[in-house]
Formats: sequence, C-alpha cells, structure tokens
Amino acid sequence: MTKCRTPVLAVVIPTYNEVENVPILVQRLEQTLAGIDWELIFVDDDSPDDTAQRIREIACEHPQVRLLQRIGRRGLSSACIEGMLATTAPYLAVMDADLQHDELLLPEMLLRLQREPLDLVIGSRYVTGGQVSDWDAQRASMSQLATRLGQHLIKADVKDPMSGFFMLRAGVLHQCVRGLSGVGYKILLDLFATYPRPLRFVELPYRFRPRQAGESKLDEAVLWEYLLMLIQKWIGPMIPARFIAFSLIGGSGVFVHMLVLWVSFKALDTSFLVGQSVAALVAMTTNFFLNNLFTYSDMRLRGWDLLRGWLSFVAACSVGALANVGIASWIFEVHSFWVLSALAGILVGAVWNYAVTAVYTWKRPKAA
Ligand code: GDD
Ligand code: MN
Repeated sequence: MTKCRTPVLAVVIPTYNEVENVPILVQRLEQTLAGIDWELIFVDDDSPDDTAQRIREIACEHPQVRLLQRIGRRGLSSACIEGMLATTAPYLAVMDADLQHDELLLPEMLLRLQREPLDLVIGSRYVTGGQVSDWDAQRASMSQLATRLGQHLIKADVKDPMSGFFMLRAGVLHQCVRGLSGVGYKILLDLFATYPRPLRFVELPYRFRPRQAGESKLDEAVLWEYLLMLIQKWIGPMIPARFIAFSLIGGSGVFVHMLVLWVSFKALDTSFLVGQSVAALVAMTTNFFLNNLFTYSDMRLRGWDLLRGWLSFVAACSVGALANVGIASWIFEVHSFWVLSALAGILVGAVWNYAVTAVYTWKRPKAA
C-alpha cells in the first residue's frame, strides 16, 4: 500500500466574529505544531465582522489554512461536523477560535491517539490539574448543571462532557456522523451519545483561559438548543425535537387563547365570535414568535421576513385548525368517543402545522 499523503492532523475551528483572534491563533498553532503535517480548517458562518476575509488574507502566507464559509447558516456543532468532513486527515481536532483552549495540548493529544488504543482525547477543565479562570458564579453554575445533565445522558464517566476542545480518530466520526443531531453547542456529547460502542477516551487537564477578544455567543438560545438535543437523544430519531418544541409552544397557545378570550368576551363584553377570532389570532401570533425564538433559533426570521413568516404561519395554522375540527368530528361520528376524537384532531392539526410551517415559514437555505 502506498503511504497516505494527506495531512496527519486537521484542526477544525468554528468562527463567528473572531476577526481579532484569528491571526494570533494561526501564529500560535504554527509554533506549536511545527514538525507535524497538519492543516487548519476554519468554518465561518459569514461573520458580519468579515472574519472570512481576514482568514483568506492570512491563508496567503500560511498554506495550511483552509476556509469553509457557510452562508445563511448558524450553529457551532454543525460547523464542527462540516469542518471535520472537509478534510481527509486521519486525526481531527476541534477547538475554539477565541484562545480559551490551550493549543499546547495538541501535540500530546495526537501522540496519545497515535500510540494508544484510544478513540478520543478530551481537553478537560474538570480533571485534576484542569481549571477555569474568570468565570462568574452564574456561568459556572450553568456549566455545572449542563455537565451533570450531559453525564447522565451519555452514561460514561467523562468529567468534562461539555468540552469544546478534543481530538479524535476520523473513523470515529465517519461511523456515527449520520446519527449526530448537529444541533447546538454540544458536539462532544453528541458523539458520545451517538457512537454505537463506548468510546475509549482520556481527559487531559488544561486551564480554560479568559477570552482574548470579542464576546461569547453562549446565551439562553444555546441552552435551549442544548435541552432540545437532550430531548432528541432521549426520544430517539423518529420524532424530531423541533416537533416536540413546536407542540409544547402550541400547548402554551391554548392558555394565551383562553386568556384573550376571557378578557375580550367577559371583561370587554365583545361577542363570542369576535372574542374567539381575536384570541385565535393572538395565540397564533405568540406561537409564531415563540417558535421563531426557540424552535427555529438557528434560522430565526428577521426584518421583512418576519411579516412574510407570520402571514404564512397564520395561513397554515388556519388550515390546520380546519383539519383538526374536520378529523375530530369525522372520528366522533364513527366512534362517538369524544376525548379520543379531540386528541386525534389535535394531533393531525399539530403535525400539519409543523410540517407546513417547517417548509413555508422557516425555509431552509436552498440546497446547492
Ligand atoms: N461557525 C460558527 N457558527 N462558529 C460559532 C458559532 C456559530 O454559530 N457560534 C460560536 N462559534 C464559535 C466561536 O467563534 C468560537 O470560536 C467557538 O465557536 C466557541 O464559541 P464561544 O461563544 O466562545 O463559546 P463559549 O466560550 O461561551 O463556550 C465554550 O465553552 C463551552 C463550555 O462551557 C465552547 O468551547 C463550548 O464548545 C464549550 O462547550
Ligand atoms: Mn469561548
């Protein structure tokens, strides 16, 4: 067999508004990885600060730098996955662009993978010798909670399952990539939960440094995406987690509806028909905004798209309501069991609303 001539190691770095950190990072990696055949793959989600352009400029002088620029997309996990799929190197590392991860750990990670029967090496803040600098109490407890939930899910004794800093054999990714959820921040957890066998891993301690420039993108939406991912792993791939979120929000719409109906019909003394119509419209509107905020946080509509989205949402849900009533009364005529008829109607309506709005309201970017 001829010797494989691809780089040995690909370092995959997702970026969103990291223009100031990128040059420093490239320089540090070059020093640290001297002597290793490596490449660097940035995956940039079209950062408004033009990180991608800066990367192109840097690549002129640093031929191991590659860039995958994604348009109309967001998401740390999916960026990591696509970056890892864009290389043919047998060892893949993932790290942040903001210099919080200690690049000095990379050569040791590679050596361990090459010499020991391991699938994965994790840079860990929570094993002896590891450390977190500069976190406030809220961020620290948020991380602890997420860590505990995560450990519960993967049933492996990983001290830092939320780590965004790790290296793995490419074959591990290829074996489970089709099952990865790709949602949210937690790519490592996703790998553990999806890989068909227990992963053989070690955790190497490092000090999680303060962010160099720019700001963290971890916010409530990220936490919510994390919960969605946990739910998805629990219920299995048959029912999309988005559908669960969509249905939960739909349930909240019932309360909104009742509240508005009560105010309008009882307090403001409108006719029932007017009250019911206004309540339905308000509930659809709050549902639309909540879904836009949470269910589709990764493809949120903004500006004029909001108006178009709202119109299509209301149109789809109105048809959904008709389908709901139609199916329910048809079943009721046949079986005359009212609870079951109503539930069947609600299910059909919910599936319809979800399926139609997934296509027409929150359009996916055009497949190339
Ligand atoms: N392409 C792309 N798309 N990159 C993104 C996106 C995105 O939507 N969101 C964030 N990034 C990039 C950032 O530019 C950075 O390089 C890296 O992903 C991590 O983002 P941060 O916003 O700096 O995350 P953090 O420091 O709060 O979170 C870190 O700690 C967590 C543990 O608490 C990350 O390492 C997480 O992976 C880790 O789980
Ligand atoms: Mn960071």
